[in-house]
Amino acid sequence: MALDITAIREQFPILDRTVRGGKPLIYLDSAATTQRPRAVVEAMEQFTFSHNGAVHRGTHQLGEEATDAFEAARATVARLVGAAPDEIVWTSGATAGLNLVANGFKNASLGPKSAAASRFALKPGDEIVVTEAEHHSNLVPWQELAKATGAELRWFGVDDEGRLDLSNLNELINERTKVVAFTHVSNVTAAITPIEQIVAAARRVGATTILDACQSVAHLPLDLPALGVDFAAFSGHKMFGPTGVGVLYGTREALAALPPVNFGGSMVETVTMTDATYLPPPMRFEAGTQMVTAAIGMAAAANWLNNLGFDNLSEYENNLAEELLKVEEIPGITIIGPREAHDRVALVSFVVDGVHPHDVGQVLDDAGIAVRVGQHCAQPIHNRFGVSSSVRASATVYNTVAEISAFREALAQVRPFFGVD
Ligand SMILES: Cc1ncc(COP(=O)(O)O)c(C=O)c1O
Repeated sequence: MALDITAIREQFPILDRTVRGGKPLIYLDSAATTQRPRAVVEAMEQFTFSHNGAVHRGTHQLGEEATDAFEAARATVARLVGAAPDEIVWTSGATAGLNLVANGFKNASLGPKSAAASRFALKPGDEIVVTEAEHHSNLVPWQELAKATGAELRWFGVDDEGRLDLSNLNELINERTKVVAFTHVSNVTAAITPIEQIVAAARRVGATTILDACQSVAHLPLDLPALGVDFAAFSGHKMFGPTGVGVLYGTREALAALPPVNFGGSMVETVTMTDATYLPPPMRFEAGTQMVTAAIGMAAAANWLNNLGFDNLSEYENNLAEELLKVEEIPGITIIGPREAHDRVALVSFVVDGVHPHDVGQVLDDAGIAVRVGQHCAQPIHNRFGVSSSVRASATVYNTVAEISAFREALAQVRPFFGVD
């Protein structure tokens, strides 16, 4: 079934606005944050005006309704990624989810005293494996964990095409490896990681796997239990939902063994003046009042995405990826990452010979085109390609081929505009 893109666009009022003196907005920055359809905002409004109350506390009707809505939202987001509701921990975003796991390792002494939990206790000689393609949110927490425990940080490199180089897989993931943290889709190269190979190697040595699903959850059908990762994190605002909410997925076994990180109300069973016992997951990781309204919005976004259908979405976005890749036909443009439309999402980062990315961004912005410029919170992969920053255009289901053509036409004017040839 072909998607009705006009009808989809109508669900996003912001796409109708003009910018920079009346130019129609062409929004090509969805990898940074997606726009929100009416259904998401309406679900949040409906909850706020009709059911708002403190969840998991008290017995009044509003409290009950709010608790039911909050837990139903958890079940909806769980379904999107093939998980069970108790495998979903609400967080404020992917960054918070990734830090939650890394800090769980730091808190190993506070965790359950089971054999399963001992996997969270790192020591000198242990190894943490990441990739050169990570967003800082899935790199810096592991750097800090390595510093705190004396474990060694190691990483998969990226080949000249921008895909992960797994040629040393069995050397890099070895008996000393305790953690393997990696992205599903690079937010710079758009390349999709061959998860199965990495997970199989990690499982062979009993290492804990953490998947950064930020850039995949809104584009690829995800079945996290089938992928076999122990943990995965993603954000609401990159999947048509609100900011301030995200999810940490963990298998029941992994969450049961993960030490708690934040302490306070809602995560405790009994408390005395000197001690406390903790609730089981997921609530053990949800100290304090949660972002209930945002969770309702994230669930509405999950439903909205599911209703589109991932087959339809992939087919349409592959087409957009091909259109984006045509930027390389413009003289002076070099893409960072794979040039092929397969095993990628509809995102392209590039540099323009002789023009700084910020200047490129400014010329595009003057034409009403919103792209991302800079390092996209991924400095190491820019270093890998010998550039300090890049321009990134990212598209999704509400973008059209005509918009991407207009983007390429504006881009073709950049070097002439600056007198570079
Ligand atoms: C691959 C990747 N990981 C992690 C993040 C961090 O997400 P958030 O800022 O929503 O916590 C981003 C956001 O740009 C991302 O693209």
